Amino acid sequence: MDAFFVDLGRRVREQWQAVDFSLAAFPDIARTALEVNPPATRVDLTALIRSFLRDDEQPYQTASGFGQPELVVFDDPRFYIQLLFWLDGTTQIHQHEFSGAFHVLAGSSLHAEFAFANVRPVTAHFRLGDLRLTGTELLETGRTVPITSGAGSIHSLFHLETPSVTVVVRTHSDPGTGPQFTYLPPHVAVDPFFSDALATRRLQLLDVLDRTGAADYAEVVRSMVATLDYERGFFTLQNCFVALHERGEWEETWNIFAEKHGALAAYAAPTLEEIVWCDRLVSLRSSIEDADHRFFLALLLNVPRAAEILRLVAGRFPGDPVGTVLGWAEELSESSDEGTWILDAKYPAEEEDEGKEAPLDRFLATLTRCLKCETEPTDAARRDALARSSLRALVA
Ligand SMILES: [Fe+2]
Repeated sequence: MDAFFVDLGRRVREQWQAVDFSLAAFPDIARTALEVNPPATRVDLTALIRSFLRDDEQPYQTASGFGQPELVVFDDPRFYIQLLFWLDGTTQIHQHEFSGAFHVLAGSSLHAEFAFANVRPVTAHFRLGDLRLTGTELLETGRTVPITSGAGSIHSLFHLETPSVTVVVRTHSDPGTGPQFTYLPPHVAVDPFFSDALATRRLQLLDVLDRTGAADYAEVVRSMVATLDYERGFFTLQNCFVALHERGEWEETWNIFAEKHGALAAYAAPTLEEIVWCDRLVSLRSSIEDADHRFFLALLLNVPRAAEILRLVAGRFPGDPVGTVLGWAEELSESSDEGTWILDAKYPAEEEDEGKEAPLDRFLATLTRCLKCETEPTDAARRDALARSSLRALVA
């Protein structure tokens, strides 16, 4: 067992017991303990990993799939301390059924916080509402943030370095604060621990029909959507979204869902589109190796407003953030006979008019004006191309 975390755990237990294990007091006790003895400066991670691999005297390990992986480094009946390793950048937007505090032990993370308003429960495991970003910040190594359970604390952490490691001092579970909803922006909350095995098997079976080229695939999906409840219908549309678009069958299928669910259907369309937009950007990011470019794409994925993006860039890179972003945009651009690309924003060659400027320079000039909130009538088509792409936040 790691002596530092045993000592940290004992201190937290002593302080919490002194206030009769008050749940309301726990986040502050956990945060203070991590700030007084910051693991980022006190823990030798390399030695801890070697010791965990060799020493059999360890706290009870859970079967949790959260973290890549999770190590439990202190265990008590009322709380525990976990180390979470992260190799991929993304964690979904979520709330907690536990409380405490987390601390960035290694790497850094982009932290985004949200509020979910106008909530309309559909089932106990599925809700509709309006998810709104309330703030973003970069958490550098050594930062500590309290966690409260329930819908009052909704967040996501996008880990920027590989690996990033967080220490979490947390309760096991806070009664009455579940489900631990995961949020699909802009309108859906789902319980990730609810298992609807029949629905899961049906979606897997639909994938079999898709991949084996079944001629009646879209017809089968439509017959399901026509009778399924909202929750299962939504997940069926999510599962089949790309395949139906590729087959030119989306509109007809969507119309059946929209007609069946009336006003509530309006929550589903932008959410499904957002899922596909995020998947595309995550896959684009996985093909990029340069650390600064990966940072840029992490911002595009997580921060919807240009002003916020520029503020976060300025916090990490010296100089004018507009110039830094334009430099990355240029490095991520390419031109061919077909047109000009900045990342996945394409401006077709046939729409170029004669002029002295090279097409890429014009595209970058449009992006510059967007970032500076300047308007220029001739930018309209290029601005539309940017707004449909992964760069949409920069023109918002
Ligand atoms: Fe969290």
